[in-house]
Amino acid sequence: MTNDKNPLHVAIIMDGNGRWAKQRNLPRIFGHRAGMESVNKIVSYASKLGIKYLSLFAFSTENWLRPKDEVNGLMEILNEFIDKKFNEIIDKNIKLVVSGRLEQIPEEPRSKLEKLIDASSNNSGMVLNLALNYGGRSEIVDAVNKILKSGLKEIKEEEDFKDFLYNPEIPDVDLLIRTSGEMRISNFMLWRLAYAELYFTEVLWPDFDEKEFDKALDNYKSRVRRFGMTDEQIMRGEF
Ligand code: IPE
Ligand code: IPE
Ligand code: MG
Repeated sequence: MTNDKNPLHVAIIMDGNGRWAKQRNLPRIFGHRAGMESVNKIVSYASKLGIKYLSLFAFSTENWLRPKDEVNGLMEILNEFIDKKFNEIIDKNIKLVVSGRLEQIPEEPRSKLEKLIDASSNNSGMVLNLALNYGGRSEIVDAVNKILKSGLKEIKEEEDFKDFLYNPEIPDVDLLIRTSGEMRISNFMLWRLAYAELYFTEVLWPDFDEKEFDKALDNYKSRVRRFGMTDEQIMRGEF
């Protein structure tokens, strides 16, 4: 009755970089740099395990409220990440996509990202969905505006609404991981989280590694997903 399969779509709220740095009396940006190493590890590992979709919350629509230096530092780290990982992403057959209002991201990382999105667009391995300047509410508002522009007068099925979200080919989230002990969604993937299994860990993002990812997957496999039905129905496979 429990899941023995790995989730199709794992989404991660990578939180706790600032606290990791604070514990070491370092400026917050050091935490973000250390967090980038965790991104490298988890992207490689998830792709090796055959996870089909990995969404990473890298920068929220609310994160612009942070001090200017920190925002600039995060954009600089994004820039370096693309420079360093461009070839590896292509070699690992990973397809990079971005969710969010990319037009507000500074020109240098944005154009690099666009190149990588284009260069990896035919890759058939893991889809790495980078949530950048992403907000779950903006995603829904942007979808509504696309619908209005399209001239549609009515949305008959939920599935038809989904077609207007960012990267509509990305399915619902099966497993949401949030690090650093915070237990909230912080405006992440509101539509696709509707039936996700939630996993919270005290581990700070820079300390999150392959072992911690395995723990989250094992925990996911112990869950019973009912989608509104009864255990008996799930056992008989009525879905
Ligand atoms: C997550 O770590 C990274 C981003 C939000 C960009 P934080 O920077 O939020 O770290 P804490 O929550 O302050 O520890
Ligand atoms: C959520 O983390 C955003 C990212 C991980 C990019 P925050 O640290 O910004 O979330 P809150 O503000 O504590 O809820
Ligand atoms: Mg935080």
